[in-house]
Amino acid sequence: MNLPPTRFENTDLLRIRGLNAGYGSAQVLFGVDLHVAVGEVVALMGRNGMGKTTLVKSLFGLAQSSAGQIEFAGQNVTGWPGYRVARAGLGLVPEGRHVFRSLNVIENLRATERTAQGEGAWTLARVFELFPRLAERAGHRGNQLSGGEQQMLAIARALLTQPSLLVLDEATEGLAPLIRADIWRTLGVLKRAGLSVLVVDRDLTALGALADRYVILDKGRVVHSGPASHLSTERAVIERHIGVA
Ligand SMILES: Nc1ncnc2c1ncn2[C@@H]1O[C@H](COP(=O)(O)OP(=O)(O)O)[C@@H](O)[C@H]1O
Ligand SMILES: [Mg+2]
Repeated sequence: MNLPPTRFENTDLLRIRGLNAGYGSAQVLFGVDLHVAVGEVVALMGRNGMGKTTLVKSLFGLAQSSAGQIEFAGQNVTGWPGYRVARAGLGLVPEGRHVFRSLNVIENLRATERTAQGEGAWTLARVFELFPRLAERAGHRGNQLSGGEQQMLAIARALLTQPSLLVLDEATEGLAPLIRADIWRTLGVLKRAGLSVLVVDRDLTALGALADRYVILDKGRVVHSGPASHLSTERAVIERHIGVA
């Protein structure tokens, strides 16, 4: 599979430095540092309520930052509104999927699509190739889709914004094991095609196979990070950090 060439030559596609962020007077993130290199898959983990979604939201201007900096593809995007960050190449698969319930699959995909030309550009045909199930359900409305199909739709929709970094927040949450496996398989295809990914999840086995590095948040601070190989070799320690053991 081909993807559009990244317009950015530096090795760090996303670089977050010293980020404080939250909602109004409620500070949630404290001095967070995190980077994603071109072609890298980084797993963001932590117990519920530790700030993972807030970090994702702060990338898209949906949580307010009070200190620190977010650099994406060589630009300081701190505080940019979501549509501008998306246009710069950051693709979001939000927690809870947020598909349009009364629009059908094709209308959902068209709603946020950014058409692009050239080799590797995402088209409706290409996302249907990646998710044949969505092609079969093309005329069905969002509220007629299963959870797994909605998740595929959310990923397909993000790809159609032509991202150079895809951010997925709990993309396998609440899905049946076979559907989860399908989502992980798809992320593997995207990684092998060279897409950079920041993935919030807690499936250590799947992340161990897919990711290059992991970062753990605890009460809004990075408390642990390392190569993805640690997800199996230090599994017990990591499970304690993320509250699955
Ligand atoms: N819109 C909001 N306004 C105020 N506080 C929020 C809001 N959203 C989340 N929080 C708080 O921020 C903290 C981190 O939440 P979140 O980033 O969603 O955690 P996670 O994604 O790791 O489960 C929690 O204490 C949560 O209650
Ligand atoms: Mg969350």
